[in-house]
Amino acid sequence: MCCSRRRMTTRMGYRDWRWQALWWHIFFLLWSIIHGQTRYSIPEELKQGYVVGNLAKDLDLGLSEIFDRKLRVASEADKQYFTVDAGKGELVVNDRIDREVLCGQSASCVLPLQVVIEDPLQLFRVEVEILDINDNSPKFPSNDVTLDIAESTVVGVRFPLESAIDPDVGSNSLKSYTLSKDECFNIRIKEVAGGRKVPELVLAKILDREKKAVHKLLLTALDGGNPLRSGTSQISINVLDINDNVPAFEKPLYKVSINENAVEGAMIVQTKATDMDDGLNGEIEYTFGAHTSESVLSIFNVDSVSGTISLQGKLDFELTPNYEIDICAKDKGSPRMEGHCTVHVEVLDVNDNAPEIIVTSHPKPVPENAPDGTVVALISARDLDSGDNGKVTLQLQKKSRFSLRPSFNQNYALVTSGILDRESVSELNIEITATDSGSPPLSSQTIIPVIITDVNDNPPVFTQSSYNVYLKENGVPGSILYSVSASDLDFGENAKISYSILDSKVQDVSVSSYVYINSDNGSIYSMHSFDYEKLKVFQIQVLAKDQGSPSLSSNATVHVFILDQNDNAPAVIYPSSAAMGSLSHQRMPRPAKAGHLVTKVTAVDADSGHNAWISYKLTEATDASLFTVNLYTGEVRTKRAVSEQDDSSQRLLIEIRDDGEPAQSSTVTVSILLEDGLHEPILDLRQKVAEPSKKNGRIALYLILSLASVSVLSLLTFLILAVKCIRNSRSSGSCCMRRSDCDDYKNPNRNLQIQLNADGPIKYVEVLGGDMLSQSHSFRSCMSPMSEYSDFTLIKPSSTTDFKEVISVLDASLPDSTWTFESQQVGK
Ligand SMILES: *[C@@H]1O[C@H](CO)[C@@H](O)[C@H](O)[C@H]1NC(C)=O
Ligand SMILES: *[C@@H]1O[C@H](CO)[C@@H](O)[C@H](O)[C@H]1NC(C)=O
Repeated sequence: MCCSRRRMTTRMGYRDWRWQALWWHIFFLLWSIIHGQTRYSIPEELKQGYVVGNLAKDLDLGLSEIFDRKLRVASEADKQYFTVDAGKGELVVNDRIDREVLCGQSASCVLPLQVVIEDPLQLFRVEVEILDINDNSPKFPSNDVTLDIAESTVVGVRFPLESAIDPDVGSNSLKSYTLSKDECFNIRIKEVAGGRKVPELVLAKILDREKKAVHKLLLTALDGGNPLRSGTSQISINVLDINDNVPAFEKPLYKVSINENAVEGAMIVQTKATDMDDGLNGEIEYTFGAHTSESVLSIFNVDSVSGTISLQGKLDFELTPNYEIDICAKDKGSPRMEGHCTVHVEVLDVNDNAPEIIVTSHPKPVPENAPDGTVVALISARDLDSGDNGKVTLQLQKKSRFSLRPSFNQNYALVTSGILDRESVSELNIEITATDSGSPPLSSQTIIPVIITDVNDNPPVFTQSSYNVYLKENGVPGSILYSVSASDLDFGENAKISYSILDSKVQDVSVSSYVYINSDNGSIYSMHSFDYEKLKVFQIQVLAKDQGSPSLSSNATVHVFILDQNDNAPAVIYPSSAAMGSLSHQRMPRPAKAGHLVTKVTAVDADSGHNAWISYKLTEATDASLFTVNLYTGEVRTKRAVSEQDDSSQRLLIEIRDDGEPAQSSTVTVSILLEDGLHEPILDLRQKVAEPSKKNGRIALYLILSLASVSVLSLLTFLILAVKCIRNSRSSGSCCMRRSDCDDYKNPNRNLQIQLNADGPIKYVEVLGGDMLSQSHSFRSCMSPMSEYSDFTLIKPSSTTDFKEVISVLDASLPDSTWTFESQQVGK
């Protein structure tokens, strides 16, 4: 604090000129009484009692005068800031002096004082200049200012702030402002009219509410005093949210796996997005992306509030193995901002599909002789599942005659593998089982029907390899002789049999002229009536041939045995002159005794067996008591001695009858002349027999030789056989007389049949040798029990009735013909 006295200066503020003018008016009015003017300068805010100056001394007054003359100070203001110390004559501060109250903002502040002395009244004018001291701090109208600034406000925008007020003047008055440090704000001072300084907030950097929602600034106003004083104001800046943040998902991609059999409503994944914005700007709503496909929308659901994605439909790995779902998180600001994420849903395969078998080519019929590996059908296996669940293995039944040959990629060829036989199985159902490798495995079955087609692999087979047919002779031509039948196991044309007869010769004539066969059903028809006497047996080779290609055939032999019918009447050979039914003349001596052989009627029958058994019977006689005919031999003998009364001419009608059914018969009439003194007629007969010709005698010789040789041969054979039989009987215990039972009867010279016919008066031995089927060699010996003398008479060859013809035939083909030798005794 300094105190100095100085002269009034003319320094005046422009504003105070009127105040000054008033003062000057008063000054000149009072000048007459006022001696001089004294001026003091003091700082404001002095303590009471502070001595401003010594009035007495300055006014040239004595101390006594001060007291006596009652010196006083009169202020023009209301308040008496000063008082005079009567003792010392000093002007002292009486009251607090605040320059700002007294003078406000005016630059100079002078307090005029009237110093009054009475007796005589003298007026002095004293001026006290109040000097400013920095006693006021700048002060803001409000200590707390709140500003709202949107975060998107551009850099450089200014926000005017309230100015601070400092009542001090001059250098003590407000000088500057400072702002607490903030990267977003600067302070700028703007001078307005009157020198007032207005602070402005300048945005230096874009605001980001999300980083700093409220900026707190401290604005400080500083004056220029010494020490300087300051005032502060708190500025709060609320950054207003702008929807400048997109909702952000925690992850751009969510990967999840879910089994395809997941139930509806199963939660798949929880997505979460955050938005740094505030309020609605940060309130998130989850939706599917705008271009989400219908299929995703139908299967998945997103919770708009929580972002949980759940299943609302059925998953099917086979249809869609994975999904890419676009999830959108949208805030509710304006404009609405959205963020996206992708949810990758991998559908895990579950073994929910059974494997399938697809027949890609229809099964072809397979010929039964198809070689192994013949392709029947093409099949493929499929399983909609994947991995092991879709790994299919195919299996055929055990013991299948087929196998599967894998080709590329689950394709198989069903091929034959084994022997097929249409005749045992004509249609096969191949069962194929497909199993996948899932756990548990699923399987399915398919049946492929395969038709086995026929191949001509079976020949026709006759019901018998040979047939024996017995056919009566003299049948009606064109009648069915027999029906053979063959069967063929094949099918269709391969089993269609046609019958035919293989050509062969029967008695130098083609067999086809004897019989023909119905080629469709095997009925064999005769084309002839057969004559047993000409043909006893023949064979037909029947061929059955199927229509396959190549055709197969087989043959069978039909042995046709012609059965004898009694179709031949006995033919009379002797008396030779006697033709059938005609007369034969015989002579006999009258003196013949009883039992005299008159003649012998000989007849033959072309038939055989009983049909050829001839019996003789006297049917008519001139004198039935005289002659008798032997039933079997045909010998005509006298019953009694001829008497003189007997007619010399006797006539006998002899019936010759065979044993057939019905019997055939013929008759011969023998006329007998009884003569006196006639020589033995037998000589006649013998002569007749022996005489006929030289040729006949030679034949008889041949016959005897033949018979002898055949007999020797037979005997030899018989002996050999007997020896063999004895040997055999040692081992087998039975003697086989008929070698034919054991051996092929077709083999010539193996068969020797010795037949002893015991019934009837005729005993004969039939020796059969050679091939039964060709013309048999038959030698027969017939012996009469009462043989007085024997000779051999050729009775007949088997195939002709005419004796003379027989002889010539026999002559031509001696070894091959059938002969019957009959040993006969003719009694005398
Ligand atoms: C074969 O066919 C003929 C003519 O159709 C017929 O007369 C005959 O009886 C048939 N034979 C058989 C064994 O069916
Ligand atoms: C008849 O069959 C036999 C065997 O069964 C055979 O040897 C023969 O050649 C056949 N004959 C014909 C003409 O087919």
